[in-house]
Amino acid sequence: MYGKYLFMLCLWPFIAEAHIKLFNVAEYGAITDGKEDNSVSDACNWNGSATVLIPEGTYMLKSVIFKGPCNGSVTFQIKGTLDGQGSATRQKCKNNANCEILFTTMDFDFITNGHVQNLHSIDSKGGHFIVFGCENMTFTDLTLKSPENNHNTDGIKISQTNGINITGVKIGTGDDCVAMISGTKNVRISNVVCGPGHGISVGSLGKNDGETDVEDIVVKNCTFVGTSNGLRIKTWAAPLKKNLKASKFVYEDIVMNNVQNPVVIDQQYCPLHQCDLKVCASSYNVACRNIRGSSKSDIAVIFNCSKDKPCQNITMDNINLWGYSDNGKGRLLLRNYCFEVNGASYGKQSPPSCTPHRATPLSA
Ligand SMILES: *[C@@H]1O[C@H](CO)[C@@H](O)[C@H](O)[C@H]1NC(C)=O
Ligand SMILES: *[C@@H]1O[C@H](CO)[C@@H](O)[C@H](O)[C@H]1NC(C)=O
Ligand SMILES: *[C@@H]1O[C@H](CO)[C@@H](O)[C@H](O)[C@H]1NC(C)=O
Ligand SMILES: *[C@@H]1O[C@H](CO)[C@@H](O)[C@H](O)[C@H]1NC(C)=O
Ligand SMILES: *[C@@H]1O[C@H](CO)[C@@H](O)[C@H](O)[C@H]1NC(C)=O
Ligand SMILES: *[C@@H]1O[C@H](CO)[C@@H](O)[C@H](O)[C@H]1NC(C)=O
Ligand SMILES: *[C@@H]1O[C@H](CO)[C@@H](O)[C@H](O)[C@H]1NC(C)=O
Repeated sequence: MYGKYLFMLCLWPFIAEAHIKLFNVAEYGAITDGKEDNSVSDACNWNGSATVLIPEGTYMLKSVIFKGPCNGSVTFQIKGTLDGQGSATRQKCKNNANCEILFTTMDFDFITNGHVQNLHSIDSKGGHFIVFGCENMTFTDLTLKSPENNHNTDGIKISQTNGINITGVKIGTGDDCVAMISGTKNVRISNVVCGPGHGISVGSLGKNDGETDVEDIVVKNCTFVGTSNGLRIKTWAAPLKKNLKASKFVYEDIVMNNVQNPVVIDQQYCPLHQCDLKVCASSYNVACRNIRGSSKSDIAVIFNCSKDKPCQNITMDNINLWGYSDNGKGRLLLRNYCFEVNGASYGKQSPPSCTPHRATPLSA
């Protein structure tokens, strides 16, 4: 299958008296014409639990919209792999400026209490999953894969959303594994393996007017393999909204394997170098605990904050990052880059932390 899916469903909590009914798209005629399929609207009207079954087969999809609100809860069961065919499209689009390659494989818009599980998505055109305007969703047991050199293929991109759990997900892609942008709150990410890709990122934040804060993010037990960044918070040097904030982050039990920039807070993002460095977004209350592994560059941690809004309450607890010598056998000592960062460090610090060391360990 390929194409853009736009899910606009309200998945209501379980209706006590469940009337379970199966809607098989194959029995309705395949969803090939890019229009809303009747199986879906019938399922959406069903007063109970409806399952839309997409059986094994090859479906060539254009943009399909599944739209709510629905009367009961709806399950989509897809027997197969979502193939965005992004590489072929990019090849075709090489010499055609009007070519549209930015379709994402699935958009989840305005969904409440949804679960996405056991899916494989490969070779997306312009990103695998987008989550927008949702509340309380879980993403579990997924594999998302795109070639490393296909840019703009984020794994899961989240905005204006409150309450997301992502666990047991393998992402290898040409952009961020998980991107959290404007208005993302209460996200728990665990047991994710990321690589190749650009890491688990916040931002960039501040480019557009009307952007809102990102806060309460926990990333736990994740592994990065050969990514350009590991954990990153990136805000524009001169955000359009002056008091924009990125705060309350916990990064815990993280393994870095040959990562270019393992930990980054960049408050001075300004690719065109035309920013006013006097007004920055603020980044604060960030805890990094038990982070170990190897860096590809000779800098382990970058805290590039600002005179205007120094990074506040950044705690580093038990950090052990190293490089490899040219022959790959010896371990190299790295350094950290710090500009205007306040906070404390605890436990082992290799390389030496730029926040002052304290004897009392952090309580978990
Ligand atoms: C679904 O809800 C609509 C509007 O509330 C109602 O008209 C329709 O009968 C409902 N469908 C079922 C199967 O109950
Ligand atoms: C759904 O169906 C049940 C059982 O037939 C009925 O009691 C209930 O009123 C229906 N709800 C709606 C919204 O149609
Ligand atoms: C989302 O989850 C939170 C915390 O469990 C809960 O308080 C809230 O009511 C949920 N929201 C919806 C719309 O179910
Ligand atoms: C996510 O996980 C946390 C901690 O396990 C839990 O409290 C929260 O309710 C979960 N949220 C969702 C949307 O499942
Ligand atoms: C940590 O993540 C790895 C990789 O996903 C998984 O195999 C392992 O069970 C996880 N450990 C815990 C304690 O959840
Ligand atoms: C920090 O930010 C300044 C200003 O944008 C930039 O010139 C410098 O290269 C950055 N340093 C690092 C290590 O990212
Ligand atoms: C510092 O940040 C931690 C979380 O990283 C938070 O628990 C603590 O309350 C913060 N301290 C202050 C003074 O805000």
